[in-house]
Amino acid sequence: MEFKVVSSTKDVPCDVLIINKFEDKQTSNPLVNRFAPESFTGKRGEMFVIHTQKEYPATYILALGLGKEQDMDNNVVRENVAKAVKKCIELKAKTVAIDFETDYTYGVSAVIGASIANYHFDKYKTKKEPRISEVYLSGVVPESIEVAKVFADSMKLARNLSNEPAAFATPTKLAEIAQGIEGIHTEVFDEAKIKELGMGAYLAVAQGSVQPPKFIHMKYTVDNPKRRIAIIGKGLCFDSGGLDIKPPSSMLTMRDDMSGAACILAVMKALNKLKPNVEVHGIIAACENMPSGSSYKPGDILTAKNGKTIEVDNTDAEGRLTLADALCYACELGVDEVIDIATLTGACMVALGTVASGIMGNDDEFVDNLIKIGSYSGEKYWKLPMWQEYRDNMNSDIADMKNTGTRNGGASAAGMFLKEFVTDNVKWAHIDIAGTAFLDKPQKEFSKGATGAGVRTLLNYINL
Ligand code: BES
Ligand code: MG
Ligand code: ZN
Repeated sequence: MEFKVVSSTKDVPCDVLIINKFEDKQTSNPLVNRFAPESFTGKRGEMFVIHTQKEYPATYILALGLGKEQDMDNNVVRENVAKAVKKCIELKAKTVAIDFETDYTYGVSAVIGASIANYHFDKYKTKKEPRISEVYLSGVVPESIEVAKVFADSMKLARNLSNEPAAFATPTKLAEIAQGIEGIHTEVFDEAKIKELGMGAYLAVAQGSVQPPKFIHMKYTVDNPKRRIAIIGKGLCFDSGGLDIKPPSSMLTMRDDMSGAACILAVMKALNKLKPNVEVHGIIAACENMPSGSSYKPGDILTAKNGKTIEVDNTDAEGRLTLADALCYACELGVDEVIDIATLTGACMVALGTVASGIMGNDDEFVDNLIKIGSYSGEKYWKLPMWQEYRDNMNSDIADMKNTGTRNGGASAAGMFLKEFVTDNVKWAHIDIAGTAFLDKPQKEFSKGATGAGVRTLLNYINL
């Protein structure tokens, strides 16, 4: 999808011209008066399509109700542009022009909304479904459109990677992708090096698979960065559950268990274009969780990079084991802030559904700021508690901790487990995207499948 900024979209020859109306404002747009019926009041979500019968350069006019003008914000624009774009796809449009009459600068959200709605994972379809190829915009700030395009492309990359079958998106493949990102310095550690670094928890998860683990450390640097941060993505290229194997219905979408990693790869790729004045380390402990003769077993005792020991209670609680070592590694880099993003617990999905991601951490101000950034980025977060009781449930008789507690409150328990591997002087937030990363049915702007969860929030957090 190409975005083109022009001085006026009114007269651009195109398949669909999208115009707007507010319910509380008289429109001076002659097109609304000419083409929309009187019953079209401009209420939010209202849509009206008319064929212009060649009386106009656009084949169709699509009038979009946006509600009250003072209520316009990023979310209203993004969701409604997405809705209009979906309608345009139904109309088999290729070229679309957007002409909004408003003082509100809508460009960034329009680009992101259009791009989300136009997305479809059809790489493996021999017959491609039609999609929109060009969008013309006017009344927008051209520079901000460039930034929005980077965000949109970044989301698309994350969605593609997490939609890909596990046979494609292997740990080795993720490492190759990381190494191919321009302007980013990437180191990849193989099994021997991972062992040498003492990442016993991560290695145990990986040992049951024929796919070798790859620890990926990407680095974006500038001279005199104003902040130094690390972002970590859970990179389980497939999570079968291991010996504590999942039932078929739960395993079905477990290729998405590297959605955190997909988010980090996409964000790192965008950084070279956004050029923020921040040092960013992107970290992925990629592997598969498989049952085999060499798998780790319930009852095994693992030693993580910081020396703490873990009794394996359930081999399906593998993500936290890989993240434990990745968090130790990140903290040793001497960064100020660490964020991990992970499809970590079914419990988080039970609690928040596919609507919001869970978030927790060791610094309320830091966590609250991320929630705020999320709210204008179009991503919802809900803070979950970090109470000692959740940790107490993971006490082990034979090691420092078990890798699971009780199933109830599982998202917080996982957070308390991760906290054991974060040093106190580092601000840390943990984002659980188990519910939000992958949809089993369309939701708002999104089609089924991967959503690119976390990409917009992390990019805005880094780029501010
Ligand atoms: N990858 C799963 C979590 C998950 C579930 C992600 C559903 C997306 C959708 C994770 O590795 C897992 O299996 N967690 C277990 C933990 C349990 C054994 C304590 C879970 O949530 O059931
Ligand atoms: Mg699991
Ligand atoms: Zn998992």
